[in-house]
Amino acid sequence: MIKGGKPLSGTVQISSSKNAILPIISACLLTADECIIKNIPGLDDVSVMCELVSSLGARVEANIQERELYISTPELTGHTAPYDLVSRMRASFLVLGPLLARAGKAKVALPGGCPIGTRPVDLHLKGFEAMDAQIEYGNGYIEAKARTGRLKGSRVYLDFPSVGATENLLIGAVLAEGCTSIENAASEPEIVDLANFLNKMGARIKGAGTDTITIEGVDRVHGAEHAIMPDRIEAGTLMTAAAITGGDVILKNVVPDHLKPVTAKLLEAGIEVSEGLSEIRVKGAPRPAPLNIKTHPFPGFPTDMQAQFVALMAKAQGTSVIVETVFENRFMHVNELRRMGAKIRLDARTAVIEGCDSLEGARVRATDLRAGAALILAGLTARGTTEVLDSHHIDRGYEFIENKLQRLGADIKRV
Ligand code: UD1
Repeated sequence: MIKGGKPLSGTVQISSSKNAILPIISACLLTADECIIKNIPGLDDVSVMCELVSSLGARVEANIQERELYISTPELTGHTAPYDLVSRMRASFLVLGPLLARAGKAKVALPGGCPIGTRPVDLHLKGFEAMDAQIEYGNGYIEAKARTGRLKGSRVYLDFPSVGATENLLIGAVLAEGCTSIENAASEPEIVDLANFLNKMGARIKGAGTDTITIEGVDRVHGAEHAIMPDRIEAGTLMTAAAITGGDVILKNVVPDHLKPVTAKLLEAGIEVSEGLSEIRVKGAPRPAPLNIKTHPFPGFPTDMQAQFVALMAKAQGTSVIVETVFENRFMHVNELRRMGAKIRLDARTAVIEGCDSLEGARVRATDLRAGAALILAGLTARGTTEVLDSHHIDRGYEFIENKLQRLGADIKRV
């Protein structure tokens, strides 16, 4: 429940990255040794991933005060990721790689559709097939087996630089026999964080962060300690919150380089952004200039920031065009924003947004994580009260969002 109209001001600490920690928890399954993961964010998706690896034999302990996770898997006691977990969180599919690598077999539910598109897993499966896995489908599951008991290093070309496929194949290739190269790989910072963790475990990975990653397979890996990188999407969301409210906010614990595409667009919109070593200051303008944006894989403008920028552009001084190229159905927030007075025309993957002077509070529904974040941003600037229903979607990826916003002066509460 948000009463809009207050410019945000003050300092906020950014949490660690959801999208970095999920594959890293999954990668812990590669070894019997203990792995220590530091700076864990308190997110629902992290709990689901812990539940999943526990069901496969991992012992997971958390020290909430210290924000640490201790994970060890003396032996794998299962090799199935059930539908109820995979349908709750698509990243569950990332256990395929470590299970195939360590046990030589895995049974994972097909994720199926999700609110932001069909999101198939063909690239993951084609990659493992190239690495000598046999894949069979039945009853909503895929069953994969390494034909000789161990994956074989291979050359894998991804038709699209999928983040999930790159991560799954990367983890799987660590224990494969021989050398694997992943070409047209995703180069997101979260891939680099995962590769750094795997290398600490004794993997031999080069090229993470570029479009070609090479992995020289090793016989075994060991435990490792790793601190998770800051969440660039949480940071981008709070930068946009500062911008949309005409506020003045300093974000701590950020990597400004990770946020370049977001910063560039805010600057273009006339928002002041200044960068320090690990902090960013954002000063909003009364009404931003309109923008043309197309989402792309990193280092392009992130699809995970598209919804928040649609909200920002709803208040721009002029007409903006935002094109979504990564997902085929990621404009669920548009109808809800219209209910708040936003003037948006939608044509397939293109949103044309005619900026208006102010939005109006309304009862709206979060349909997915980032759509929910966009509605909060709209609520922060709208006249009157905005009620965002189904806020559980937002808790999947934002830690204590209402507390962070309250401390910046927002009138927001959870009811
Ligand atoms: C990850 C992020 C998500 C982000 C997305 C794109 C996590 C947990 N989630 O999701 O927040 O929005 O990257 O930056 O890190 N595709 C295929 N076949 C495949 C795999 C993907 O066609 O086998 C398509 C998808 O349908 C989608 C596009 O590729 O249209 C991008 O998907 P991908 O990069 O795999 O995203 P995720 O890993 O699911």
